[in-house]
Amino acid sequence: MQPFSCWALLFVALVAASRSTSSLVTIPLTKLDRTGSYLQGSPHADRARASFLKTRTTSGSTTVPASNLAYMQYTTSVGVGSPATYYNLVVDTGSSNTFIGTGKTYVRTSTSAPTGQHVNVTYGLGFFTGVEYSDTVTLAPDLVIANQSIGDALQYADFEGVDGIIGVGPVDLTNGTLSPDNTLIPTIMNNALKQGLIKKEILGVLFAPPATYNDTNGVITYGGIDHALYTGKMSYAPVTETYPASLFWGINVTELTCGTHTVIPQSTAGIVDTGTTLVLLADDFFDVYLDAIPGAYLDDDNNTGLLVIPSSSVADMQPLNFKIGDTVFSMDIAAQLVPLDQNTAWGGQAGVQYGVVGKLGTDSGGGLDFIIGQKFMEKYYAVFDAHSNRVGFGYTNHTFSKYSP
Ligand SMILES: *[C@@H]1O[C@H](CO)[C@@H](O)[C@H](O)[C@H]1NC(C)=O
Ligand SMILES: *[C@@H]1O[C@H](CO)[C@@H](O)[C@H](O)[C@H]1NC(C)=O
Ligand SMILES: *[C@@H]1O[C@H](CO)[C@@H](O)[C@H](O)[C@H]1NC(C)=O
Ligand SMILES: *[C@@H]1O[C@H](CO)[C@@H](O)[C@H](O)[C@H]1NC(C)=O
Ligand SMILES: *[C@@H]1O[C@H](CO)[C@@H](O)[C@H](O)[C@H]1NC(C)=O
Repeated sequence: MQPFSCWALLFVALVAASRSTSSLVTIPLTKLDRTGSYLQGSPHADRARASFLKTRTTSGSTTVPASNLAYMQYTTSVGVGSPATYYNLVVDTGSSNTFIGTGKTYVRTSTSAPTGQHVNVTYGLGFFTGVEYSDTVTLAPDLVIANQSIGDALQYADFEGVDGIIGVGPVDLTNGTLSPDNTLIPTIMNNALKQGLIKKEILGVLFAPPATYNDTNGVITYGGIDHALYTGKMSYAPVTETYPASLFWGINVTELTCGTHTVIPQSTAGIVDTGTTLVLLADDFFDVYLDAIPGAYLDDDNNTGLLVIPSSSVADMQPLNFKIGDTVFSMDIAAQLVPLDQNTAWGGQAGVQYGVVGKLGTDSGGGLDFIIGQKFMEKYYAVFDAHSNRVGFGYTNHTFSKYSP
């Protein structure tokens, strides 16, 4: 077991060039990577997040033990105050509070007004508590939100290397986070719409397989779909009514197959989450996937928690096909694998082939039976459409790009 210490973080400066049309603002994203054993914790972190998301209720907050694990995440630069100070915030569709202060401290300006409220949010791993402010939030030069409620984190855990979160999940997820007023906190998307800065509450997210250790390899679009970022047509699935996936950006996958193996046989609810690194399947579903790859096993003993795939089985692997809406979205073999040259970064051993599909930690039937995380989203354009209450996916330029293990 490697020490869970000295996780140095490397950032790449955000590319400032952002494209924008009238009410559509596209912002570059930075893939956040860490050196050393950072990703050693990733599957465990993902699983902890999964079990937390499943058990989350809107009635209040829960405090979990702080642990020295962190996620691989996507961040975007967000300005707060006037003049703005810029913070690197995790882009999270699985939560809805926006806060700063876990890295760079809050630089208050004349626009920063305390609301007199306390805020407390618990995540799958980590938490923050602090005080709520109203401030000017700059997402892009032409997307400046006035009077946005944001948290100033005073106590927190598990946010190494980032300054906070920009929460782009449904507003109901803020229920129970504010006190003494137990009101919902309008999200940045809510306010951008209300203030006429965007025309529709739609978020477009383009992730791509990172080419280097630190890579500005994605963009996020506030307010609509950037048609230049996908090819063909978008395929939509309505936000699911199945609880608890319904609290999030939840959808039903109608079938999931891997070669001749049927991993998910019937319509099943789960969520799409930019805050989860891997693709997670309920344990019984995962076991079927495992059966499809001779000799594969979970490396729980060695503590990476990752799927280990015998080199001899790689050539016989099959695409993992998610049926969403009327379209099949496939993770080809390459998309199911950790590139060998990334093993060290993932906390793995040289020469071992690891996989990116993981185990949720509970059997299916819980109403949140999969998490479509970054490793799926790096193949497709994703659209979180609150206007029409649906999630869409489209093919991108890298959907069919190949990585040779
Ligand atoms: C917050 O959650 C509680 C408990 O589930 C519920 O009774 C209440 O209506 C919710 N509040 C809002 C504003 O949605
Ligand atoms: C923000 O709050 C200030 C002070 O309460 C108010 O004057 C201003 O109109 C508000 N701006 C918006 C866009 O709501
Ligand atoms: C996708 O590829 C086409 C053809 O090479 C290119 O014109 C287009 O700019 C690319 N789109 C993106 C978003 O990179
Ligand atoms: C979605 O999946 C759940 C099981 O997770 C199922 O009960 C529900 O009927 C499905 N909804 C639709 C519309 O198929
Ligand atoms: C796990 O650890 C055992 C014992 O140290 C070793 O033999 C094996 O190769 C390791 N497997 C992986 C996938 O790292």
